[in-house]
This record gives sequence, C-alpha cells and structure tokens, in this order.
Amino acid sequence: MPVTVLVGMQWGDEGKGKIVDLICDKSDIVARYQGGANAGHTVVVNGKKFVLHLIPSGILRPGKACIIGSGVVVDPESLFLEIEQLKAGNIEVGGRLVISPRAHCILPVHKVMDKANENSKGQTKIGTTGKGIGPTYADKTKRIGIPMFYLYDEKKLKHAIGQLIDMKNCLFENYYHSEKLNAQKVFEEVLALGPKLAPYIGDTRQLLRDGVNAGKNILCEGAQGTMLDLDHGTYPYVTSSYTASGGACVGLGIAPNKIDKVIGVIKAYTTRVGEGPFPTELKDEVGSQIQEEGNEFGATTGRPRRCGWFDGVVARYATEINGVNEIALTKMDVLDKMKSLHVCIAYKVGGKTVERITDDVSILERAVPVYREFEGWQAQTAGVTDYAKLPDKAKRYIDFLEKQSEAPITIVSTGQGREATIVKGK
Ligand code: GDP
Ligand code: IMO
Ligand code: MG
Repeated sequence: MPVTVLVGMQWGDEGKGKIVDLICDKSDIVARYQGGANAGHTVVVNGKKFVLHLIPSGILRPGKACIIGSGVVVDPESLFLEIEQLKAGNIEVGGRLVISPRAHCILPVHKVMDKANENSKGQTKIGTTGKGIGPTYADKTKRIGIPMFYLYDEKKLKHAIGQLIDMKNCLFENYYHSEKLNAQKVFEEVLALGPKLAPYIGDTRQLLRDGVNAGKNILCEGAQGTMLDLDHGTYPYVTSSYTASGGACVGLGIAPNKIDKVIGVIKAYTTRVGEGPFPTELKDEVGSQIQEEGNEFGATTGRPRRCGWFDGVVARYATEINGVNEIALTKMDVLDKMKSLHVCIAYKVGGKTVERITDDVSILERAVPVYREFEGWQAQTAGVTDYAKLPDKAKRYIDFLEKQSEAPITIVSTGQGREATIVKGK
C-alpha cells in the first residue's frame, strides 16, 4: 500500500505514535501533514521513551526520510529542542528531516496570543495547549502569517512582520490591555532563525511526488484526532487544523486519488484533554481507575486526560469522515482489571435515539449515551502478541467494537512497546 494515512479516531492521544513506529518499518517516508507542537506522540523503543511533538515518529527507525508538510505550523524553539533530545538518544536527524518552505512559523507572539485569548474567555475557554497553534493558523488564513520561505527574503520578511505586529499591537493595546511589541526587535529575532532552519528546509512536494511515482511506501502521520478537526470536530472545542485524512492531501500536496489506505487508531476506551463535550465521560471512580491504569496524563502539557467509555457513535463517524479501511485498537491492557465495561451504541437526544453524528454537532452537548454492558475479562492481555491467546471475553469486546466502528480491527495493541502488539491474521 504505497500511500497510507494514519489518523486518530477520537479526541487525540489514541496511540498514533506507537502505531506509526510499529508499521513504518515498511515505509520509506513518514510525513506529518497538520498540527504543530500541540501534539505529543509517545513511542517506547526497547524500553526507552521518546516524546515527539513535531518530528514524525518515523525518525526513530534508521534510514526513514521524515517530512514536515506545508500544513504543519512549526515552532522553531520546539523543533530545535526535539532535535537535541533525539541526538542525545543517538538518533540522527540531519539529512533525514525535510520541512516545507510553505510551513508557517509559530512566533513567540502567537504563544502569547494563545494564552491571552484563553484568559479572556474565562468559562468558555477551549483548554488549548498554549503552543500558539490557533493564532498561527489564524494569521495564515488572514494571509498575514510568516511562511518559512520569507526567512530568505529580508524585505518581504520585514514588511510582513511590520504588518503582523501592527495588528497584534492594536489588540494588545485595546483588547488585552498588555504591553506592545517592537516590530524591529521581532524582525531581527525571526531573521536570525533563517540560517538555523536552512539545513532542514527543502522541496517536500518533490520528494513526495518522486516517492509516489516510484511506488515508495509513504506513511502520513496525523496528529490530534477526528473529533478535534476544525470542520468536522466538536467546534469550537477543536484544534485549528484539518486532522481528518483529507488533511493529508491538503497539508502535503498529495492528490486524493494517490491515497491507497487509511488506518484509524482508536483506544479501547475514550479520553479527551481540554474542554468540550464528551458524552461517555466518567466523572466517578471508574474514570479515575482508567486514568490511573492508562497513565492518562497529557504528553505535551501534563494535564490529566478526561476518561470515559468507548463511544461507538464517535467511532462510526470517524470511520465515515476518514474513510477508514483498517483500525488499530490500542490500550486493551488498560482494561484488564475492570469488572464490567460499557460501550456506547447510540445517544438519546431530547427523547430521540441518534446513532450517527449529524451536522448539528451541538447534540453532543446534550447526548445521553445508550450503553451495552460487557463483563470484564479480568485476566492479563498486557503483552499478549497472539490473538488466539486473548481471553474469550476480550475477544467478544473487540468483535463488538469492530461492529460498532464499521471497519475491521487488524491491529490490537497490548502495551507501550513495539513488541506488545497483535497483528490479526498473523
Ligand atoms: P498519540 O498522541 O496518539 O501518539 O498518543 P500519546 O502518545 O499521546 O498517548 C498514548 C499513550 O499510551 C502513550 O504513553 C503510549 O506509549 C501509550 N500506549 C500506546 N499504546 C498502548 C497500549 O496498547 N497499552 C498501553 N498500556 N499503553 C499504550
Ligand atoms: P496528539 O497528536 C489531545 C486539544 C487541546 C485542546 C484543543 C485545542 O498528541 O493526539 P490547541 O493547542 O490545538 O489549540 O488546543 O485540542 N489537543 C489535543 N488533545 N491530543 C493532541 O495531540 C492534542 N492537540 C491539541 O487539549 O482541547
Ligand atoms: Mg498525544
């Protein structure tokens, strides 16, 4: 399958990093197509933990080319830190990482705006990661952003920064009532980034085009999850990019008819970080138990993740929106001790039963889940690598999730490491 897109099917943190690391042994190129350092993809290789925010998880497999596409927003500070951390772990980045000159830069001012926006919203805040994602995409859309290629054109850069800072200062002065910025100082700081980023900037489209034409295996690594997609998620409680599989075409410049396969990653339960509707959320001790067993704390911000039951309505929606061909089900082992489990099969909304998410996404705020109960298997699936060795009750649970999701589950993950994985049919 030459071009594969891997997407999160819930609200992020489904274990995309682990699955990318697992399957990219067969890939030539791994490419990120959206998001920025709001992502935190944890990969454990031989007991060693790596957390990737911007660089594709494929970097951990020697020899794989890694691309950051035009749809990604790049915080240089975060990028350099990540490169240093990888080097400290004996991972070579130079010559393997290529960033699109069209990718936009996250500047310190964007991070300041992100936090100021959140503070000004009070009760209605989104609960962003504070990484400057929304303000950077907003400036890109307003056509006042700073794409990488401006860094090599002093005149253009100076003009763009002047315009950008003028607009921001107007907001700082009149809306946020905070200190104004000096455009010349910002210009000098941004200009200095050019030579540092230069070794990594290259023609990502040509690399991908040549790869596609040569039939190479390309894995497009999504960040966040379907329910955080700017258009198709739980707006306004979303991120500012196109997280769904279509985002790969936009953010990498790959034509839709070149995509061969979509793999959806989904947890055996649900989590969400930040604010926004979450119908199957458990605010009781069962939720706390899942949080503890699953170590559900954000890889980027350290915030506790809200936990709840598997939501079949969300799963079906994600299969549909992304065109999921196959599913990787993660974190089965986290449920090993549960006495009983629930799976949401539909919502009750104002007396009506709803089985599919409609365009009126606000129904999720009022949805009361309809559950099917399952007996827990109360046996160890952690580390199991052979499907036949799973307890019957666990198999029944997986079969039910598969039916609810309307796509085949081909991978079952039973632990953090590469080896703790079942590839069904193998
Ligand atoms: P991502 O953002 O989708 O890449 O997911 P994160 O890395 O933010 O969160 C998933 C967490 O679960 C990470 O700490 C993974 O190492 C871990 N993980 C992934 N798959 C499994 C699994 O099957 N079992 C357990 N116990 N942990 C897993
Ligand atoms: P990965 O790739 C989980 C959430 C934030 C917030 C909302 C908007 O690790 O799955 P933003 O900073 O993007 O403007 O915040 O999106 N969010 C994530 N939640 N996993 C992520 O990434 C996320 N990236 C952003 O918590 O609710
Ligand atoms: Mg994550």
